[in-house]
Amino acid sequence: MMKKLRKAVFPVAGMGTRFLPATKVIPKEVLTLVDRPLIQYAIDEARAAGIDEFIFVTARGKSALEDYFDRAPELESSLRDKGKNDLLEALKASEMPSGAIAYVRQQEALGLGHAVWCARRLIGDEPFVVMLPDDVIAAEKPCLQQMVEAYDEKPGNYVAVMGVPRELTKQYGVFDLDPWDGDRARAKGMVEKPEPEDAPSNYAAIGRYILQPSVMDELRKFKKGAGGEIQLTDAIADRITAGDPVYGYRFAGRRFDCGSKVGYLQATVAFGLARDDLRDDFAAYLAEYMGFMNAAE
Ligand code: UTP
Repeated sequence: MMKKLRKAVFPVAGMGTRFLPATKVIPKEVLTLVDRPLIQYAIDEARAAGIDEFIFVTARGKSALEDYFDRAPELESSLRDKGKNDLLEALKASEMPSGAIAYVRQQEALGLGHAVWCARRLIGDEPFVVMLPDDVIAAEKPCLQQMVEAYDEKPGNYVAVMGVPRELTKQYGVFDLDPWDGDRARAKGMVEKPEPEDAPSNYAAIGRYILQPSVMDELRKFKKGAGGEIQLTDAIADRITAGDPVYGYRFAGRRFDCGSKVGYLQATVAFGLARDDLRDDFAAYLAEYMGFMNAAE
């Protein structure tokens, strides 16, 4: 019997150096797109895919993230007294049932693979999801839900992939894939950060994974990869070599790399324009601003 996917790991223990000095005091995951922290988008996507256990791998200096999912009784009663029901409703999105969230610490930032391994006891012998909240995906049907549907049809390990321009392959883990079967293609291999001429394809892994517990067995070997870090993609590549089914899944949607400054700014514009309450004013401002920039050139 295939076990149902219930648990998701959110590795959020990285130092977020690309957003210094802000990340000296603000965890990257609570930076906002419009008025919601990045982590809220990831949690909503996980919930939509049927996940009901959330495991955060955190580090020192991330207490704002833990507080975000706690109740705020004074704030709630003040909003209630003032009859601000719309704001009370907005607060509800950040509420979690007692016991639904667990936090484990990664004492040292030894890499994404190591962060996932830190959750091993909470995962046990079950398949699990890994979500990187830096990767924000705007999609009609949430990306993880698309992947879970593919997984329910054909179990295995799944990694979300997207086509990237050849010259960018060295920023990603890149798959060598069999021909596409719908939106799923079985992986023959994977290369971490290849030069464009060495890349087996232009399909890059992004931050959504469905993994079998055997991936934990690879991670516990503590093999160091690119950048001297314990890489999740190396563990997945080793499972491909071992003969496990690993699929690249090309999702429908637009991914924003909110771990980079440009990606974060792009997402801010896209999510701002997607909001009914902001679109008109914001679009008018952008048009005016672009006109001003063009005139200045
Ligand atoms: P990144 O490569 O984006 O690193 O990690 P980072 O530390 O967050 O950011 P920069 O590069 O210094 O700006 C990808 C994901 O893996 C997590 C991060 O929190 C992020 O969600 N991660 C990375 C860990 O949890 N632990 C690690 O040791 C490394």
